[in-house]
Amino acid sequence: MSAANFDEEMFEDAFSLNIHRPNNKKNLTFGSGPHFCLGAPLARLELNIALKTFVQKFEGIRSVESFELEENLTDSATGQSLTHLQMHVF
Ligand code: HEM
Repeated sequence: MSAANFDEEMFEDAFSLNIHRPNNKKNLTFGSGPHFCLGAPLARLELNIALKTFVQKFEGIRSVESFELEENLTDSATGQSLTHLQMHVF
């Protein structure tokens, strides 16, 4: 599912964070079909609160240019979660 979310044939410039990509909702983060994540509404609500709080607290958030995605992922085949996400905040 992680690989599908980075499929360049599905998502334009898949490795770039782009919240305006028209088909973003086609991601498989919460699965699909009869076993779609039961906790998705709760997870989305929590993330909404967390992200709002974060962007209200800091004026600027910038990526760290030397950050390598592949070096900061767990080994899990099912969900390649981030272990670290370095960023500059000010
Ligand atoms: C960002 C947070 C979360 C992510 C990315 C996530 C992801 C997923 C994915 C991909 C599946 C489908 C697995 C499959 O197809 O077999 C799933 C299933 C499930 N998730 Fe989540 N989940 C999250 C949060 C939660 C939370 C907060 C809860 C409960 C409070 C939850 C409860 C469940 C349950 C019960 C299932 C099984 C549904 C079924 O098999 O019918 N999840 N989740």
